[in-house]
Amino acid sequence: MHLHRSLVGSLCARIQYRPASSPGATIFRSAAVCEHQPQPSAVPTRCGWVFDHIRAPFRLRLLGLVGYHFTMTVLEVIQKSAEYLAKKGLESPRLQVELLLAHALKIPRLNLYLDFERGLSDAEIADVRQMVKRRGRREPLQHILGSTSFCGLEMRVTPAVLVPRPETELLAERAWRFLCIRQASSNMHPDTEPTPEPLPGRGAERGTADQSSPPGRGAGVGSFVENLAQNESVAPAVLDFGTGSGCLAVSIAVNAPAARVWALEISEAALEVATQNAALHHVSDRIQFVQGDGIAALPAGIQFDLIVSNPPYIASREIDSLQPEVRDHDPRIALDGGEDGLNFFRAFAAQAKTFLRPSGKLMAEFGDGQEQAIERLFRDRGWLIEAVGRDYAGRPRILVAQP
Ligand SMILES: C[S@@+](CC[C@H](N)C(=O)[O-])C[C@H]1O[C@@H](n2cnc3c(N)ncnc32)[C@H](O)[C@@H]1O
Repeated sequence: MHLHRSLVGSLCARIQYRPASSPGATIFRSAAVCEHQPQPSAVPTRCGWVFDHIRAPFRLRLLGLVGYHFTMTVLEVIQKSAEYLAKKGLESPRLQVELLLAHALKIPRLNLYLDFERGLSDAEIADVRQMVKRRGRREPLQHILGSTSFCGLEMRVTPAVLVPRPETELLAERAWRFLCIRQASSNMHPDTEPTPEPLPGRGAERGTADQSSPPGRGAGVGSFVENLAQNESVAPAVLDFGTGSGCLAVSIAVNAPAARVWALEISEAALEVATQNAALHHVSDRIQFVQGDGIAALPAGIQFDLIVSNPPYIASREIDSLQPEVRDHDPRIALDGGEDGLNFFRAFAAQAKTFLRPSGKLMAEFGDGQEQAIERLFRDRGWLIEAVGRDYAGRPRILVAQP
């Protein structure tokens, strides 16, 4: 399956768990779009044919000479704002400005190129100025835009969730490929032919657990568990541990149409975003959202073909040295993996086997440099390390292990 990496995604690639290295913030006074105060709009309406046929920059200059307040063109806004962001130490400043401006104008980014000389209204300038200022204060681009692209799917993003990262797309792709192959091979053996059924209860709705459900479980969990436990031939079942925005759960559900997904998350606010993303991509009926703390929060007896996770894996002491976009804007609970960053891997190695079918797999993203420690942890607990996947830079980042 071809991976689509969006521009926002590729910008995000540069906002990784790296120590901050950008120079301190300096006030950039000549950044007109950011410092410019709104002027009353005064574009003339009866300037006649001749005026209309003068090229836009000259037209604006002419207006200035005769005392009109002139507005800025698309190109001027891009140039001035890009200068401003560059002075703030941001990478790819022009691309970032174009994305912000296109968002403010509600047009595709490439359409900006068709109309560089268009004058912007005061309201439009005020909008983009505010966005550029936020970005200059190192608020993530994805928070300002309200979404990002993950595996070619739009994902809503709020400060309650980790901004999905491009390297996690590789984990998603590995997961749905495994599920599709598993589904295809069971189709070839009639004895184990899957019998996909809709999820019981309220599907992706979380709501309050009914009285028969223990705290932290979604509605309809009981019968779904029975179904999974009794019938090995049901459609492949996946757990996304720490679903956050739901990027893994949703992209897997979209790309492995027979799969049924459980999405476990400790944060109520994050689950809300994940629920919205499932609805956006019409997979709510195949995802069961569960609020709970740790894998042990899952009902006893439930078993999966695949556990997939991008757990928190930053060592606590390293968090303060991360880039401001990550340190100050990603939820700490999504980053902090304990003293050495490996707390969640210890828990997986100790507890995840009971939640996997014998032929199941665990696929989990880990941090740069954690490979050996994680392999050791899993081997010590009797797991078979099937593979270690690499990220776009060729570094080992994905554990694939069998119980
Ligand atoms: C690194 S984020 C990954 C989010 C998303 N899966 C992604 O790849 O973008 C880890 C997620 O795990 C959640 N989390 C942290 N501790 C948890 C726990 N004890 N039980 C369940 N989820 C937890 C966090 O709230 C966060 O959403």
